[in-house]
Amino acid sequence: MKKTLFICNQCGYETAKWLGRCTACNQFNTLEEKAVRTIPAKSGGKSAAFPQSKDTNTPTLLRDISFGANRTDVRKSTGIAELDRVLGGGLVGGSLLLLGGDPGIGKSTLLLQICRHMASEAFPILYVSGEESGEQIKLRAQRLEVNPNGLYFLAETDIHAIQKSVETIKPALLLIDSIQTMRLSELSSLPGSVTQVRECTAFFTQIAKVRQTAVLLVGHVTKEGAIAGPRVLEHMVDCVLYFEGEGRDSYRIIRAVKNRFGSTHEIGVFEMGEKGLTAIADPSAYMLAGRPVGVPGSAVTCSLEGSRPLLLEVQGLVSHTHFGTPRRTANGMDYNRMVMLMAVLEKRAGYKLATYDSYVNVAGGLRIEEPAADAAIIAAIASCYKNKPIDPSYLIVGEVGLAGELRAVNQPERRITEAARQGFTACVLPQANKKNTKTQGMRVFGAAHIGELLGLLL
Ligand code: TYD
Ligand code: MG
Repeated sequence: MKKTLFICNQCGYETAKWLGRCTACNQFNTLEEKAVRTIPAKSGGKSAAFPQSKDTNTPTLLRDISFGANRTDVRKSTGIAELDRVLGGGLVGGSLLLLGGDPGIGKSTLLLQICRHMASEAFPILYVSGEESGEQIKLRAQRLEVNPNGLYFLAETDIHAIQKSVETIKPALLLIDSIQTMRLSELSSLPGSVTQVRECTAFFTQIAKVRQTAVLLVGHVTKEGAIAGPRVLEHMVDCVLYFEGEGRDSYRIIRAVKNRFGSTHEIGVFEMGEKGLTAIADPSAYMLAGRPVGVPGSAVTCSLEGSRPLLLEVQGLVSHTHFGTPRRTANGMDYNRMVMLMAVLEKRAGYKLATYDSYVNVAGGLRIEEPAADAAIIAAIASCYKNKPIDPSYLIVGEVGLAGELRAVNQPERRITEAARQGFTACVLPQANKKNTKTQGMRVFGAAHIGELLGLLL
């Protein structure tokens, strides 16, 4: 059966008639006409192409549901502690994971490293690549010294051929590198197109759920940073992991943006080196390495990334503007938050920033999401404006409100402990936090307002 559909090349929205603006993502001129051959349906409306589960169609009382032989609540360690942490304690059987990241960031490398510890005769892994040949993978595996029993390789892009191999090998884990190269032959559209990516993912979902095989899909990321193909892909999978990191730096961060089996705040920090990815044992020291000492515009804060406190250096730079409207640039934090903090600094502490271009940068390339970093951002900008350095042994933590007040942050003690471990000797906290916080041998100062904070530091 053949029909044409208009599909948004940004979000995958489908419509039968052409529209100038996609009603789902509101972007103009993104709808493209595609001829779609629908999957021929068997009687009963079930799609012929999909492996079907036999026993999932009748409602069952939740209390009567028992765990099968392959219990899905049992997690298996990937052998990479940093990855286990992000997954919430290990790989869940029968789950579908999506690993996204820029080209060359190390996705294929990570797949092989997962195989190093996990693959065995009792736990066979099928590595399917639509991008590289067996020789290429073998070369990389040799370099990484990955040579376990029970690791099978298949260079294939056709879903049905992959399904056949899955049936013969019965892998406990299926690795697909990448979902954009996979193709369902019933569809006429090209691999990587929205329809193909979505249908292939649906196919792998079935494999995961019916066969209790964990499936890890590699997804390419577009220039805008989204996983190429429809956003709907993220809804279909159990867990979405993103590989982050600047190409020029060797560190890499894995972050879960969605996780049905664990927290989404955990991060794993790695370094890419000669022997592939190695975990960074002390990320705070790594993030602070090379910090300028005695230079105005640098402040250190502590951000909680899941269960892990991480010290980060915030840098601020202000310089006279040569244009009517001053520039504001935020690197590693939300732009609107930065503009808001600058307005608070101007209004509540009297800093005349309207004639200055201002830049904020979070050193190390990590992105700050937590408002607890506000006070350090304000301090960094003020320090550069006044051309006075902040004492490098100070940790600055606090959320800033629109009235210029410093608001309490959660878990101040964990932040202080991490700073003490890194040799910091003093800490400025919101007044509300100071009262009941143990000091870990640090000098702890409380500030209720940014005026007080800046008075203490500068
Ligand atoms: P790769 O895993 O192929 O990236 P992706 O699959 O995400 O596109 O990683 C390729 C990059 O990693 C490449 O630039 C070389 C680098 N690399 C190392 O630095 N050391 C190593 O041991 C390996 C295997 C790769
Ligand atoms: Mg690759």
